[in-house]
Amino acid sequence: MPFVRTAPFVRGGRVVFVDDGAHPSVVNGHDCVDYQKFLTDAASRKRIVVAISDPHVRARVAAKCVADGVEFFEARAENVIVMDDVSIGEGAILSPFVTITSNVRIGRHYHANLYSYVEHDCVIGDFVTFAPGVHCNGNVVIEDHVYVGAGAMIKQGKPGKPLVIGRGAVVGMGAVVTRDVPAGATVVGNPARAMR
Ligand SMILES: CC(C)(COP(=O)(O)OP(=O)(O)OC[C@H]1O[C@@H](n2cnc3c(N)ncnc32)[C@H](O)[C@@H]1OP(=O)(O)O)[C@@H](O)C(=O)NCCC(=O)NCCS
Repeated sequence: MPFVRTAPFVRGGRVVFVDDGAHPSVVNGHDCVDYQKFLTDAASRKRIVVAISDPHVRARVAAKCVADGVEFFEARAENVIVMDDVSIGEGAILSPFVTITSNVRIGRHYHANLYSYVEHDCVIGDFVTFAPGVHCNGNVVIEDHVYVGAGAMIKQGKPGKPLVIGRGAVVGMGAVVTRDVPAGATVVGNPARAMR
């Protein structure tokens, strides 16, 4: 059973993995090539999704793709639920059992790993990563380049006074976030506190 819905151009096209590290020539039945070969191989159209969980590395790789004229696509599992009035920027990865409810804005290159959810009225920036099982409740603002670890839970904010997780912050796995997180901070625990 296919579990990923890709843009129609992929159907009938060729899917490859792109990896500049040491890699086998075939991964899960698909050719694996380095980035230079991806750029130079003949194709009428090429698109990429950047499957790197570190927000900063993902941003650097995406910027290189843009500079090279490579476009992006979204990888979305068949059973993802997206409710009303949701916008999601290009290049997202939405894994199986992800739910995004209503009135949500999400930026570019978002990663939502298995079983994570975004509740109502949240605003999520560019290059944000949710590890598996992240629970993001309503009226939360997550700024660019934030990484949220597995099983973390984020308390709801209020209309007009959202809970804010600042740019580049890291929320450790299992954290329970009950108040704003400053930009660049790493927080862990229940309730989440800055890691020393
Ligand atoms: C928070 C985090 C980023 C810290 O990483 P790190 O800087 O490498 O931290 P370390 O592993 O060196 O641990 C430092 C200390 O913090 C503690 N710690 C680490 N992560 C913690 C967490 N999530 N909650 C509570 N304590 C944590 C460690 O036990 C250690 O304590 P000690 O000094 O008393 O032994 C990381 O542990 C984390 O939670 N990452 C997310 C992982 C994840 O969700 N992966 C999903 C993959 S799909």
